[in-house]
Amino acid sequence: MADQPTLKRAVLTGIGAYLPAQILTNEDMAKRVDTSDEWITERTGIKQRHFAASHETAAYMGAEAGRKALEQAGLAPEALGAIIVATSTPDQAFPSTAVHIQAALGAKSAFGFDLAAACSGFIYGLSVADAVLRAGQVKSVLVIGSEVYSRILNFEDRGTCVLFGDGAGAVLLEAREVEKSGPGLLSTHLHADGTLADILYVDGAVGQKDKPGHLVMHGREVFRHAVNLLAGAVNEALAENNLAASDIDLLVPHQANRRIIDGVGKKLGLPPERVVVTVDKHANTSAASIPLALACAMEEGRTKPGQLLLLEALGGGLTWGAALLRL
Ligand code: COA
Repeated sequence: MADQPTLKRAVLTGIGAYLPAQILTNEDMAKRVDTSDEWITERTGIKQRHFAASHETAAYMGAEAGRKALEQAGLAPEALGAIIVATSTPDQAFPSTAVHIQAALGAKSAFGFDLAAACSGFIYGLSVADAVLRAGQVKSVLVIGSEVYSRILNFEDRGTCVLFGDGAGAVLLEAREVEKSGPGLLSTHLHADGTLADILYVDGAVGQKDKPGHLVMHGREVFRHAVNLLAGAVNEALAENNLAASDIDLLVPHQANRRIIDGVGKKLGLPPERVVVTVDKHANTSAASIPLALACAMEEGRTKPGQLLLLEALGGGLTWGAALLRL
């Protein structure tokens, strides 16, 4: 029998996670602002979040997660081709978080840059890495989401400060020749609508005089758009690959809010055991949330080779997107 034709794909070969040691429960938050465990749990599913200590910057946490991903894949840091860091909370305006991570890992052959797409940053990062790998520019890319939202939260605003947490997650993608039914990223789908920039944003930056910036969100507006936009991106991913929702083994959504996660799961008709939920433990860690959730699912033995994973996220921009990944 003739050999199956092969194609070049970005295959996940390693994953790593990092969470700060400090945990704040909803009760802890209720000591800081006028809120309650009941309100937070009912509206969001969040029970606790990790907050970074002063040494735990986006670069520090990203390097820890990235190192674990390289170790799991058995790839020497010197052999790494590129580092893409999705973050809205970089250590500095420049140099990028990615070059700090490159130095910390000793990944001296890698180029690197940061990518800003808020909570969709990890999906955007996967998409860029996929293109770079399939074009043959490099053979391996670390895609890292690393965030310290505790530093941009407004602790006077109880409507937002209870929703977010800190952490980092990383995946190593390597270019491999595989059969069509083999592993790797099948497709990625990115979207943006800048006309909705004013419903979720940071009201300052280093480029603005005397305005370091705090997160501002019109939660109801974001909620109103989230499920429909996400379902649209998910359907696009399924249609492009001639797949049905029932083909998805595991949905690994951005972890912003339990009600949004359940809404998308329901639209797809997926039972709860096929949906990964970590928002209860991590809260919303923005670009870090998907790799953190995937790392948890893998550690809990919920994944196996050959499974089809659907990843989706929506965030400030608005930006949103989806990716289909076969393990
Ligand atoms: N604790 C207690 N009460 C709170 C509170 C808190 N932490 N935050 C807000 N409230 C109060 C408000 O003051 C308001 O009180 P009022 O009716 O007396 O004025 C009431 O709760 C309702 O506020 P509202 O902001 O309308 O709540 P909501 O039902 O829309 O829930 C969110 C707020 C943020 C949980 C919800 O809008 C949401 O999940 N949005 C999507 C957010 C998201 O996922 N963003 C991330 C995308 S990356």
